Amino acid sequence: MCAAAFAALLLPASAQQACYVPTPEVLESRREFASDRFGVFIHWGIYSMFGQGEWYLNYGPTAEEYMKAARGFYPADFDASAWVSAVKDAGARYICITTRHHDGFSMFDTAENDYNIVDGTPFRRDILKELADECHRQGIALHLYYSHLDWVRDDYPQGRTGRDTGRDATKADWESYYGFMNRQLTELLTNYGPIRAVWFDGWWDHDEDAEPFDWHLDEQYALVHSLQPGCMVANNHHQTPFEGEDIQIFERDLPGENNAGLSGQAISRLPLETCNTMNGMWGYKIKDQNYKDSRTLIRYLVRAAGMGANLLLNVGPQPNGEIPAAALSRFKEIGEWMRANGETVYGTVAGPFPAQSWGTSTRKDDRLFLHVMTPETDAILLPADVKIKNAREFSTGRGLRVSRAGDHAVVHLDTIPDVTDYIVECAL
Ligand code: GLC
Repeated sequence: MCAAAFAALLLPASAQQACYVPTPEVLESRREFASDRFGVFIHWGIYSMFGQGEWYLNYGPTAEEYMKAARGFYPADFDASAWVSAVKDAGARYICITTRHHDGFSMFDTAENDYNIVDGTPFRRDILKELADECHRQGIALHLYYSHLDWVRDDYPQGRTGRDTGRDATKADWESYYGFMNRQLTELLTNYGPIRAVWFDGWWDHDEDAEPFDWHLDEQYALVHSLQPGCMVANNHHQTPFEGEDIQIFERDLPGENNAGLSGQAISRLPLETCNTMNGMWGYKIKDQNYKDSRTLIRYLVRAAGMGANLLLNVGPQPNGEIPAAALSRFKEIGEWMRANGETVYGTVAGPFPAQSWGTSTRKDDRLFLHVMTPETDAILLPADVKIKNAREFSTGRGLRVSRAGDHAVVHLDTIPDVTDYIVECAL
């Protein structure tokens, strides 16, 4: 809860303003976002040229040498309309793209420096503009990833990462860096049409336990909200949401799980999003061809929906501007599945009980969808408080037998075909 709200009886009205009240436009964005259930994350920058992921600069080169790569960046095959069409065919409803990652390179036309896609490369095209226009044309919402930390700028007060890039730490200047970020955010939220969310990352670069660091988020979030009243704020800080945020993010884990070591934080009442990779890396990694298969990805998406969360599934485009074929083929298969079954995922909320050994559930009004992902299941015992009128196979509409065991309804399944997700629709 907002501290100001807690102290509302004791403090003057001015203090209460610290409490974030989302605008009706933001509330609408939150509703729309929560019903999307599936988005595509795009990590793309000059790091793609090294083929070793987006953290390459952190592992050896100096910033001075690394930045020279910009002059060789010419993604000849970049085609915004092909990207957006592929995303749309996959059944995803929004894109979140890295506008500036930790390497500080801006993938958009910025007046702040020349280290950007238009002034710093021979390509000279504003790929963000092309992508934004295409998203707006094809009806795909656009979210912008923006790194709070920077491994090349001297004025960024160095944190835990990027310590060997040769920056001059004595030149750290928060005021200067904060001004730079806010002017870039102003460009991003002014020149590219409606942006549905800004997705911050890098807060964790300063170790709060060792030395508290003030990122001045309140003012920055207020700036975002004032530039576009419908734009949501998300922050990948791996904490429960802060005041002024509209989405809770989980990285590489479903809400409540913590296999990757970044999550486990309490689940808030904000719309939820889990981001994850298709192979093992966010940015293009030439050696990582270890892509999860479509069945695994679809089941992950369904399990996210069963927890009331969106899946933001990442792809790392190649240096030539194309999305890797392995990712495109998965998009295609996910899309086929979504066209047949999306009704049980889009616009749903989490089912009335937690995930079970057989799978998970989603709900839309008075329809409950049981997503059975272990084919050996022959009957499902529902919790006593879940009362159903009948059950049928979602794909065919064929009725399924429902019996009682005490207070519990039992849905009987025949032999389940070898499918990714056997869906049972129950009337509540
Ligand atoms: C981490 C990484 C970053 C990646 C992000 C995506 O915070 O630093 O490279 O962009 O996760 O969730």
